[in-house]
Amino acid sequence: MLICRSVSECRQAIAGLRQNGQSVGMVPTMGYLHAGHMSLIKTAQAHADAIAVSIFVNPTQFGEAADLDAYPRDVERDLALLKEAGVAVVFLPEVETMYPSGDETIVETTRLANMLHGEVRPGHFRGVTTVVARLFNIVQPDVAVFGEKDYQQLQVIKRMVADLHMPVQIIGAPTVREADGLAMSSRNVRLSPEDRAAALVLSRALDAAEAVAADADATIEQLQAAIADTISAETRAALKGLDIVAAETLNTLTGPLTGPTAIMISVAFGDILLIDQRVVTP
Ligand code: PAF
Repeated sequence: MLICRSVSECRQAIAGLRQNGQSVGMVPTMGYLHAGHMSLIKTAQAHADAIAVSIFVNPTQFGEAADLDAYPRDVERDLALLKEAGVAVVFLPEVETMYPSGDETIVETTRLANMLHGEVRPGHFRGVTTVVARLFNIVQPDVAVFGEKDYQQLQVIKRMVADLHMPVQIIGAPTVREADGLAMSSRNVRLSPEDRAAALVLSRALDAAEAVAADADATIEQLQAAIADTISAETRAALKGLDIVAAETLNTLTGPLTGPTAIMISVAFGDILLIDQRVVTP
């Protein structure tokens, strides 16, 4: 496994793979890897000969400096996991490598980035698309895999790639969960034991919405009520975002449920924000 810290080292490593006739799959990460990331790598391995993983805690997608500072990091452990998974190249850039002094180019999906989660986290998706565009330009993968858990992020990246004619196929991989149903996230380790137990309310709320959607006459408003009622019954949880939108366009829906519908929730436990999503069909 080659560990690269500079753009030129990374390009050289990728060129080596290409010379061997290997296609390249990429999994961009912010490190502190868990089973969710390892499943993205497995998905990438099913679509490409060799895998490149980036580990970069991207400052431009964090609103609060405190959230960026608190983001967990354990590069040695990450590298051991990636080696065991058979990853070919790890790109570990410094902030100055991704954002050289004097840089001024940003990439933004103007509609998708500023709706839904983007409204409560201004600039977040601009930070994501800017860093992912830069990472794609450095690694130039054939395919790249992102989790469906960050549903809006996946749609934003698909839009950016289509709009900018980037020659990379974007693959969405299903959410990996703990045995009790909590979606895996690097933030889970920051939850107190009480909040960790309470966090199961996210999957309970989505189950409640899915049960409502099974009814042929179900409405979006009934789905909203099922989720809001389930979350408000958990005193440790604060519902921060609830979006029920058309699965592809992310346009907000009202009235009867008529097609594939994405439900995205964000719930705070103290200062820790957890997200989850589910696509339901009537
Ligand atoms: O999903 C993430 O971990 C990040 O948003 C990503 C895609 C690695 C960009 O920093």
